[in-house]
Amino acid sequence: MNVLVVKANNRPASEAVSSKMYETFMENLTGVNVTTYDVFAEDMPYFGQDLFNAFAKMQSGEELSDVEQRIVAAKQKAMDALSAADVVVFAFPLWNLTIPAKLQTFIDYVYAAGFTFKYDENGQLVSLMTDKKAVILSARGGIYSTPEAAPMEMAANYMKNVVGGVFGMEIIEEVIIEGHNAAPNKADGIINEGLARVAEAAKKLSRVTV
Ligand SMILES: Cc1cc2nc3c(=O)[nH]c(=O)nc-3n(C[C@H](O)[C@H](O)[C@H](O)COP(=O)(O)O)c2cc1C
Repeated sequence: MNVLVVKANNRPASEAVSSKMYETFMENLTGVNVTTYDVFAEDMPYFGQDLFNAFAKMQSGEELSDVEQRIVAAKQKAMDALSAADVVVFAFPLWNLTIPAKLQTFIDYVYAAGFTFKYDENGQLVSLMTDKKAVILSARGGIYSTPEAAPMEMAANYMKNVVGGVFGMEIIEEVIIEGHNAAPNKADGIINEGLARVAEAAKKLSRVTV
């Protein structure tokens, strides 16, 4: 089994709870081929006209500029990483109510008709990644699981809508650590309990392959 772990935080694990979730997951995963795709370490130019210009130039055989070459290579690398995976683990924080821009760029690279989804003859969306499974690991300092706050949460919700709803991956595990900033006196307990769930999720995945 090939596991791709998309790590989306470059803050140190001593400070960032979602980085600690990534570390805990890796420490407890055994018996699988695991690859980390660190979105902060990768050269990932922002998605936009550079990519469309690159595609047009490739069609006409024109030479690509530096940024066009970089974005084509980066997009291909992200798509190849996803293609090779049976299980994709996303470890990310909620920052400013949403995901870090680098993770958004990863999603932009792989969110492609004909690759992660397509439209059928009736214009209906068809998911193309239904053979893959996904694991969601996310931390957020406030509490967003209440009915009043849930619509404000655009990190885990967004990721689940994209990888589950559009790409069609089966979300087999979801570990959310939340509220540790809102209740500092309870923070240690909240974080430790959440990390134990992360460890269990990794062990469960390890067991699947044994
Ligand atoms: C740049 C930044 C923005 C943040 N924005 C929010 C926010 O909008 N709502 C919230 O509840 N917590 C917010 N937090 C707190 C994080 O959700 C919290 O630190 C959590 O553990 C996930 O981020 P981390 O893994 O980097 O620690 C923010 C933290 C940072 C560093």
